[in-house]
Amino acid sequence: MAKRKLLSFAENESFPHFFQPRYHEIKDGFSLKSAWNESYFKNDGPITLELGCGKAEFSYYLAGKYPERNFVGIDLKGARLWRGAKDSFENKMNNIAFIRSHVQNVNHFFGPQEVEEIWIPFPDPQLHKPGERKRLTSSGFLKRYADVLKPDHIIHLKTDNRPFFEYTLETIASGGHQLLFSTFDLYNENVDYDAVKVQTFYEKQFLDQGMEIKYLQFRLNNA
Ligand SMILES: C[S@@+](CC[C@H](N)C(=O)[O-])C[C@H]1O[C@@H](n2cnc3c(N)ncnc32)[C@H](O)[C@@H]1O
Repeated sequence: MAKRKLLSFAENESFPHFFQPRYHEIKDGFSLKSAWNESYFKNDGPITLELGCGKAEFSYYLAGKYPERNFVGIDLKGARLWRGAKDSFENKMNNIAFIRSHVQNVNHFFGPQEVEEIWIPFPDPQLHKPGERKRLTSSGFLKRYADVLKPDHIIHLKTDNRPFFEYTLETIASGGHQLLFSTFDLYNENVDYDAVKVQTFYEKQFLDQGMEIKYLQFRLNNA
């Protein structure tokens, strides 16, 4: 393994805001579940999750813009998470944390109604049929999100991928969920949303290739 990757893994271990729970810790009950505000953030601020966050550009930006809110980025890849963890640690940000794990475990990490907002920036589209259950907007994932979200929540999705975006629109419609906003070309809309304020690592590559960025906001009917 590349030396840089190994160094980032080692540094992740040293960060106080970086969690890499082992299987048994997840299975036996994650210690912060239903206790993030009380035991970790030590405030009553609402919690936003960034799922498949990579370098966590959204969490980092939003945590700086909204110091009264709390942010948790989740991704499998330690070397990507390291970037967001390092920047937020060096900037002494105390309203952001990271979990290296599968998004599938989200309802093991958070309790009912513990989360107010979810961002899903540029998820892997997983377009081949057996990959459907791995799509972060599949009905199986939406069910897990419903387990942790407050009724008055919001979920944001940004993607370059049209079939994946259309799949998500269909999933929202067929599940009876509430579509709050959608566009096939975000940067040609006259909106002042946070969605236009941040370009993630993957988004920059898609923009360089001239791709149009799709964006939607929705609310689950069963949270
Ligand atoms: C295309 S990248 C996008 C990363 C980042 N959001 C961005 O826009 O630059 C997709 C990310 O999702 C993560 N990912 C995919 N499936 C995941 C899962 N089931 N659980 C956790 N992370 C996942 C990958 O590790 C990867 O970092």
